[in-house]
Parts: sequence; structure tokens; C-alpha cells
Amino acid sequence: MKKILFFTSILFAITAYATPATQLHQQAVASAHPAATQAGLSVLNQGGNAFDAAIAVSAALAVVEPFGSGLGGGGFWLLHRQHDGKQVMIDGREVAPLAATRDMYLDSQGEPIKNASVDGALAAGIPGLPAALDHLAKHYGVLALSDSLQPAIKLAKDGFLVNEHYQRLAKFRQAVLASNDSAKAIFLSDGKVPALGTNIIQNDLANTLQLLATQGFDGFYSGELADKLVKGVQQAGGIWTKEDLARYTVKERLPVVAHYKNIKVTSAALPSSGGLVLSIALNILEQYDLSTMDEATRIHVVVEAMKRAYRDRALHMGDSDFVSVPVSELSEKSYAHTISKDLRLDEVTPSQHISGLNEIEGHDTTHFSVIDKRGNRVAATLSINYPFGSGFVPQGTGVLLNDEMDDFSIKPGTPNVYGLVGGEANAIAAGKRMLSSMSPTFIETEEKVGVLGTPGGSRIISMVLLGILDAEQGHSPESWVNLPRYHHQYLPDVIQHEPDTFKAETLLELTEKGHKLKSVGRHYGNMHAVLWDKKSNKLVAASDRRGSGAAIVESVPLSTAK
Ligand code: DON
Repeated sequence: MKKILFFTSILFAITAYATPATQLHQQAVASAHPAATQAGLSVLNQGGNAFDAAIAVSAALAVVEPFGSGLGGGGFWLLHRQHDGKQVMIDGREVAPLAATRDMYLDSQGEPIKNASVDGALAAGIPGLPAALDHLAKHYGVLALSDSLQPAIKLAKDGFLVNEHYQRLAKFRQAVLASNDSAKAIFLSDGKVPALGTNIIQNDLANTLQLLATQGFDGFYSGELADKLVKGVQQAGGIWTKEDLARYTVKERLPVVAHYKNIKVTSAALPSSGGLVLSIALNILEQYDLSTMDEATRIHVVVEAMKRAYRDRALHMGDSDFVSVPVSELSEKSYAHTISKDLRLDEVTPSQHISGLNEIEGHDTTHFSVIDKRGNRVAATLSINYPFGSGFVPQGTGVLLNDEMDDFSIKPGTPNVYGLVGGEANAIAAGKRMLSSMSPTFIETEEKVGVLGTPGGSRIISMVLLGILDAEQGHSPESWVNLPRYHHQYLPDVIQHEPDTFKAETLLELTEKGHKLKSVGRHYGNMHAVLWDKKSNKLVAASDRRGSGAAIVESVPLSTAK
């Protein structure tokens, strides 16, 4: 591939196309937790727009899904503002601390130190979520940040009840949670997984949210709270400084836009690989008529497309503020045609190398989708990375820190917790953002607008891809979010799938084409989607059956619709 340098770090949003004023008489929120969905709806009902609702949902999820996302983490918020058609990705991704170095997780022999980028204070990047919420309120919301944060503050004070999902993930991360006094006191009961129905109250987190509510960015990134965060991290062997916090900057990025048949797909830009990987896979798949293929051939072709797109992720992608990524070439249809010339319908193209996969059973991160009565929309995927992040809470803050540093390539060719390999483009550097797979996405045709996304580590992008292909077939959000799932990420060279995705004969046919298949043993992902059918002017929302989320469409009385 020609190495024409093309930087994606565009700090200004584009205006896609102006759209006429919209009156929907409905609003919808789909998120991973009923309390977070309610928080979003209550802010909409106070006169907030989709962006205020996004603040409320993000903050509520930080309270009631502490294992998935939070103030100690980051995320991407894809926005569409209806009155002027502006589309932008708010990048609140964590950054590597200024004292971070390329080999910081390697021992003197150059080998990765077990769990150093996953457990404890050294694994945490500088959080971006609080700054992103402040940015959303200042630039896109109509309510004060303090209003949009109220539901989360109340939830933190009143508590939420432990469910089975919480128990499963707390068990998975019990050892690391128990090793930190603050995390142990908040998330475990006497060091054990709390019983079902235990009420988890987070008073320190409520105070931290209150500081953010009243002081905005400075409430988190400077002053008393910043002192506590830095002190706690340093005492536990981490390398954060107050300068790291003070210098954190939210970026506005131009989303990646791809066209698949009659669908415009808008998704996350670098430092998420999501949009580009989707665009490469869709450009390959557009050459085929998937609807006329038998099931095994269709799955084979989709897998071969995933494999090639994830190969480019491993080879070329990283934070485009630090490395040059050939974004325009990777996005061209002609490039997809070139890399799929060797794609045979009857036979697998093997990935070049085989590497081990670290199995992970605990899944987290979170996604939500919102459309308000004006047609504004938000797709947001937020994370602290591994379940319960680094498992570390600096004393007196209630902030559970991420372990997003593991999303860097800590050593070329060494798989991270999702089995992803990377190279130079995603090496650690001070102040750099680690490559992500989070893919909040919009899909649009003349008649319909869809908002979707999911957690699931490396499998996020393939889940969104399957959702888009399903939408193209005219199916509903209910179908997108509940589809049986399969995934290929180039390395390891194996189709990963849910236990019941394939019929026996399809499995056999795929094996005959040369595929290796591996059931991941459980269901994965937790997709939440909203669809606006412009013809009927109705919204439809759906939450993945695999999770315990809530998708709610509410009617907005005509008299209150602004
Ligand atoms: O940014 C990323 O790609 C990962 N940190 C997301 C982690 C994730 O989705 C975990 N979920 N199951």
C-alpha cells in the first residue's frame, strides 16, 4: 500500500447536511440498565435534548454498572444534531500518562509482566469520561451539567441492587477487587461477592459527581479530587501526576463514513478502529450478493471480510495524533477489491500467523442509543475496559479506575486480553490514546435512521457489522440486537461463535471450506438500538436479550414538543 500520510485528527466537526426541523412526538432511550434508561428519559422530560440525555445515561451507567464504564474510564459519543446536520464524534478516550513508556509492562528480559497492564493502578490511563460529559453539556446540551447529573447523584446515594450479572463479573474480578481496600469496601461484602439484591451505595462517588456537577472539568481534573486521585495512584505504584489530569483534552473527530449498498454508515474514528474496520469489511462485502448465497457460503464470505479488515487493524491502526495511518487508502473501495482478490468462495484464506488467545469470559463496557423528539441522536460506547477495570479505587474518590492501558500493544505480536495483536502504530507513548474497537454507529437510508452499538472487546466491530447486514435485509432493531453471533479477528485464525449460532450442517460445510471453529462457550455482547422510520415517523427501540437493559419509546404530548 502507498504510504501517503493522511491524518484523521480533525479537531473540527463537519456539517454533513442540513436537515429540516423535525417533530417526532416520540423519544427513545435504549441502554444496558433500566435505571440508566430512566435517567435519560427524565432529563428529556425536563426539556433536555438527546445530548443532555446522553450525559444522564452515561453518568447513571457509571453508578449502576460499575463493572462496565465510569468516571474512571472513557468512551466515544457519536452525535447527530438535527437542526444543522452536524455529525461529530466526541472522543473522551483515556490517554497514557506522561510518564508512560513503550516498554513499561515488560520485564528485564523484554517479556510482558503478567497482568501489569490489567490489574491495579499502573494499568490505568488518564480518564476522559468526566471531561467528555462537561464538553457535551457546554457545547451540545441545553441543560446545565448539574441538572443532567442529578439522576446519577441520586442513584449513587440511594444505591442499586446487585443482580446476577454483577455477581458473575464480581466473582471474575474478586481477587483484584479484594486487594484494594476502597474497591473491596464498595463492591464486595466482607471480601466476598455480594448476595443478590444487596444495595450498593456509593457516597464517595456521589460527592465526586457533585464536584463535577458544580465545577465542571475542574471539579475532577484539579483541586481536592485530583489530589486524591494522584495520591492514591502513586501510593499503589502508579505513575499519574497532577499535570496528567490538568492536561486531559477532549477531541472532536470527524466520524468515518462508509456506503454499503443504499446505506450510509457513520461510525467511530481513530483512536477507535471501529469505523475503519467496518468500512473495509463492508467495502469487501458490497461486491457480493449475500442474500442469494447458501448460509455456509454467506458466513464464509463475511468471515473472510472480517479477517482482512482486522488484519489492517493490527497492521496499521493507532492514535492518528501520534502515528500516520493511511486512512483514505484503507477506506477506498478499490483497496477492498485488491485485498479480496484472493477470496475464494469454496476455501478459506489462512491468516498468516497463528497466535494464542487469552480466553476471557467476563465481558463488559456498555453502549446506549438515544433519539429525541427533535431527531437529535446519540450512539455512545463507554468503557473502563476489563470487568471492574483495574479493580483500583483511589481512597475517598469512589472512582473505579480503568485498565485501558492494556488496549495498547504492550509488545508487538503479544495478544491483549481480547486476543488482539498490534504493532508500532499502537505502541505506548506518553499522552497517546490506545486503539479501541468501540463502534457507536448510525445507519441511514432515505427512509430510516438507525442508532446502534455494543460492548464486547474485539468482537464489538463484528457484532455491529452483522447488525448492519441484518438492517440491510430490512430487519428490525429487535432482530439486529438478538442475532446469533460469529466473529473472526485475523489472529487467532479461527471463527469464534456463540454456542448455538450454527446448525450442524453449516458447521460441517464451514469446516469443509477449511475454517477452524470455536464456540466461545457463552453468549456475548449487549447491543442497544433505536430506529426512526421517517415514513411512519415512529421510533422503535430494542435491547439485547443477553443483557438486562431497557429500551423505551415514549410518546411526547404534542403540546410539549418543541
Ligand atoms: O476500547 C476497547 O476496544 C475495549 N477497551 C472495549 C472493552 C470491552 O468492550 C469489554 N467488553 N466486553
